Amino acid sequence: MKRHRSCLAAAAALLLLAAAVPLAAHVPPTQPLDSPAVNARAEALLRQLSTTEKIYLLSGYDFMFTHPIPAHGIPALKMSDASVGVRVWGPSTAYPASAALAATWDPALAYREGHSLGRDARARGVNFVLGPGMDIVREPQNGRNFEYLGEDPELASRMAVAWIRGLQDEGVAAVAKHYAGNEQETHRGTINSVISRRALEEIYLAPFRAAVEQGHVMAVMAAYNKVNGLYSSANPYLLTTMLRRQWHFRGVAMSDWGGTHSTLPSLLAGLDLEMPTNQYYNARAIYPLLGSGELTMANINRHVLRLLRVMVAMRFLDRAQKIASIPLIDPTSAATAEQVESEAVVLLKNRDAILPLRAAGLHSIVVVGPDATPAVTGGGGSSFTTPNIAPVSLLAAVRQAAGPGVRVTYFSYPLPLRPPHMWPPPKANSFGPLPPLPEAQQAAIRRASVVIAAVGPRESEGVDRPFRMPAHQDQYLRQVAALNSRTVVVIYAGAGVAMSAWIHQVAGLLYAWYPGENGNTAVAKILFGRLDPSGHLPDTFAQHWSDAPAFGHYPGHDGAVHFAEGIDVGYRWFDSKHIAPLFPFGFGLSYTAFRLSGLRVASSGQGRHRVITASVRVSNTGRRAGAEVVQLYVRPAPAPVPRTFQQLRAFARVALAPGQSRRVALHLHWNDFAYYDTPAHAWRVPAGDYQLAVGDSSRHILQTAAVHWNPVERVQAGMVAAAANVPPVQVAGAWNIVTQVMGTSYPSTCSFQQNGDVLSGQCSTPSGERPIQGRVRGAVVSWSTHVAQGGMKMTVAYSGQFTAPHQRRFQGATTVLPMGISGTFTAVRQ
Ligand code: BGC
Repeated sequence: MKRHRSCLAAAAALLLLAAAVPLAAHVPPTQPLDSPAVNARAEALLRQLSTTEKIYLLSGYDFMFTHPIPAHGIPALKMSDASVGVRVWGPSTAYPASAALAATWDPALAYREGHSLGRDARARGVNFVLGPGMDIVREPQNGRNFEYLGEDPELASRMAVAWIRGLQDEGVAAVAKHYAGNEQETHRGTINSVISRRALEEIYLAPFRAAVEQGHVMAVMAAYNKVNGLYSSANPYLLTTMLRRQWHFRGVAMSDWGGTHSTLPSLLAGLDLEMPTNQYYNARAIYPLLGSGELTMANINRHVLRLLRVMVAMRFLDRAQKIASIPLIDPTSAATAEQVESEAVVLLKNRDAILPLRAAGLHSIVVVGPDATPAVTGGGGSSFTTPNIAPVSLLAAVRQAAGPGVRVTYFSYPLPLRPPHMWPPPKANSFGPLPPLPEAQQAAIRRASVVIAAVGPRESEGVDRPFRMPAHQDQYLRQVAALNSRTVVVIYAGAGVAMSAWIHQVAGLLYAWYPGENGNTAVAKILFGRLDPSGHLPDTFAQHWSDAPAFGHYPGHDGAVHFAEGIDVGYRWFDSKHIAPLFPFGFGLSYTAFRLSGLRVASSGQGRHRVITASVRVSNTGRRAGAEVVQLYVRPAPAPVPRTFQQLRAFARVALAPGQSRRVALHLHWNDFAYYDTPAHAWRVPAGDYQLAVGDSSRHILQTAAVHWNPVERVQAGMVAAAANVPPVQVAGAWNIVTQVMGTSYPSTCSFQQNGDVLSGQCSTPSGERPIQGRVRGAVVSWSTHVAQGGMKMTVAYSGQFTAPHQRRFQGATTVLPMGISGTFTAVRQ
């Protein structure tokens, strides 16, 4: 489902973003994988290779490289983990967890992070970054949830697509992983994830599909586990039916490290590259298969061609990957990392407005908890990035933010709980009882103006973790909060933890995810009110593990885990079972207040080309600057199969000054209303009334509106609808077009040529001439143009309509991609 979406964000965001991304004259343009020129060159190269050389290219060596063939100018391609920093090749900027990135709900920032990480990779000559992680947060126990982008496919897709584009625009290939069904670490090397076709299509594969279709990702990594009986690395449904036939993926499918289990089945299923060695993809195994006819040269050629295509498209054959002028310790990347954390921190509880702390009214702060110091920067495993700088601990950041006038005392945790990234994570029973708090500590805690407690689970690749935090942290929090109710808890984790034991006793709660090397600076700024908390939960936080959708089926038995909840993942489950979560999906408090009002719905186009635009006014009614995350859920019409109560289909993060208001436009398309009809192997939109529900969390809906879908399109009252069978309007000629993006007007003059329904032409703007291309469908006109600014390539897409054909005027919406910033435009014929 190709989706073109937009969200309204601050005009300043575009400019700030452009300013934040440094001028990058070195940015090598990549070419589309399906370009005929790329294909022709890859095929020419293929023809020069011997069979042995081809086989050689099908596997990796030295853990992080593909094989080179110097005689043909084919370099060894260097790889690195991954989504939170370029980790393999020495210290590097350690970014916050991907869960934190998801909590920002800010695709523009995801683009910026991908871009920064791409620069870090170029500084180290890395060709492939083994991310983003795109598995769905199915249960909080998954030890790798922190590497993923939340429980919702819409949120995960948009964040991943933007991140991939940012990385690849810097000349580094992204590798979407782990495809698919790797929603737990327990028995990951052998477990069979049993997932219905509908849940695969609607939930688990959706982010991968978006990565291919919208992100144009260069590579995909097959997961360790099996899906519906076959290893992902030898699964024709995943690697051929979906990836190649349905989504037209032209890049490389590689195995996870050591995740290849066969030669013939894997080659036939569509796995191109065995990583990191050639245990199965080697000449000894492959030549006899070619000899017996079980394998054809055409099969080998197909696999090799995909790798060559990526090399050509990414220009790996034409330039050095390493850019020595990019500093290894790059302040731009550090600024990006801190910005991510500053938008990611979620304020979950703020009793009696204990936060923000006002340094003036404080005499002493006591900091406790295992995660206060040393700094917690990330979870464990292959993503753990050794920071470039001495990482900032929460204790140090609080001391810095509190200033010299406030006494900050720290008490170390009474049990030896090591930082989360240190392998192996503790076993539940590896700690003795919690010793009583010494008298002096009790007295200091009692006297403190405020207590800040930094706690968290121990999360790492390769193992899951319990819902309850280890080493009696619950009991510890209860003791501390009983001594001083002005306790603020800061949790470092990739997903929810059990909180029922102490949540009612504490005054404040912040979720900091893993903050990377310097994110604790942002956490402290939020604690002291120098920044407004604006993160929103990318997962539902359950009160009890027994409330969660996977309860009873996780982690499986007899070698299989049944995803028995089907499509009811995350909030869909809590909604359909009427279970109150502890904190709902999409939830996040702020120090300021927002109002959502005046929902309007407009519709243009027909059937599958219909675009529904919901716009809503967002106002900052408080006294501080802040950012709201506007969320649009679609509640379906009755269908022949059960559907979820509602699904997130669009969102926008909106930064507003105090007293400021802005109208936000969210666009929906046919597929946003569709479900997967398993027997028919097709997507369907049943006719009927759908509800659009707009709110600031999945459980706080403030505005609703109805949208009707008919098998035959009909005009809706209150909607601007395209009349059926309208002949294409005449756009040919010159137009004055004024584009409004967040209160700023950009004038241009565009001349369109029209050939039937195909548009071409150019726009002249104060910053230069730009070619345009587009289409006319009935009364709907859409076109796009490309802009380069500050080293970033952007696409500005327009879609508008004549309210009556042959008018001298038409208007509509514009979107700046990849940031998704929206605006409006009006075109008047000259
Ligand atoms: C992980 C991958 C990672 C690879 C290379 C595997 O253990 O599952 O996510 O990219 O190692 O480090």
